[in-house]
Amino acid sequence: MRGSKKPPRWLEAARLRTSGEGADWLSRALSRAGVMPLKDAEEAIRAGRVRLDSREQKEPMAPIHPHSRVSLDGREVSLAFRTRVLAFHKPAGVVTHGSDPQGIGTVFEALAAVLPRELERFGWHAVGRLDRDTTGLLLFTNDEKFVAHATAPATHLPKRYVAKVGAKVNDAKLAPLRRGVKLDDGELTRPAKARPRGEDAVELVLTEGRFHQVKRMLNVVGLPTLALHREAVGLLELDVPLGGFRELTDDEVKTKLHFEPRAPSPRGGEGGQ
Ligand code: URA
Repeated sequence: MRGSKKPPRWLEAARLRTSGEGADWLSRALSRAGVMPLKDAEEAIRAGRVRLDSREQKEPMAPIHPHSRVSLDGREVSLAFRTRVLAFHKPAGVVTHGSDPQGIGTVFEALAAVLPRELERFGWHAVGRLDRDTTGLLLFTNDEKFVAHATAPATHLPKRYVAKVGAKVNDAKLAPLRRGVKLDDGELTRPAKARPRGEDAVELVLTEGRFHQVKRMLNVVGLPTLALHREAVGLLELDVPLGGFRELTDDEVKTKLHFEPRAPSPRGGEGGQ
């Protein structure tokens, strides 16, 4: 009968995703829980290696629930996860994208090169973007809710940059940045904290993150950016060597980044909602 036909799985998954009721799907849950990175999870599912509630499931977007039972190659796996956040010191040259058309490399590859085995299997999300030539603090997480928290302008999480500029800096030159400036697309920025750091560098603290925002703001006041470095996000200061990373403690995530880390619930499902 037409009226009683089950909706296609993709539609069910899309509805669940937008329903806000702990919506989740299979490949994402496997990667977030550190069973396999996302692409591997998608391949394993399509190859028929994954069973969901005792049935073979070949659709990576299949909706799952906190009580769903999942097995991989015949072995039950736990989808329980806790929020993990990594502080990475991004070198210049690599892009914050999944692939690099210039072939120099991505931040995901640079991170993977230094991760220990126990952290290799997570699907890591970069928290915001740094340009190819920007160095400094880039956070990674397995928890997309943390990405949403840290990147939403409504969170007002400060990001502190230092830019070396190709002109002499003085306090008066930076005054418009403290009031907010009109960017080249006509959008107004929020007031930023701005101060000179020596004769040819500017410290800028932003609570929003538009495309090339620092460079575009500095352009407005006639200061071309020669080099850009991010020193801090929230109250977290960059404290790892170039190309290195460290995992933050739950306490740091709470007190320095103002996010309540999610932890596995006693039943083994998604917790901390
Ligand atoms: N603003 C920029 O212009 N570039 C970055 O990489 C980050 C902020």
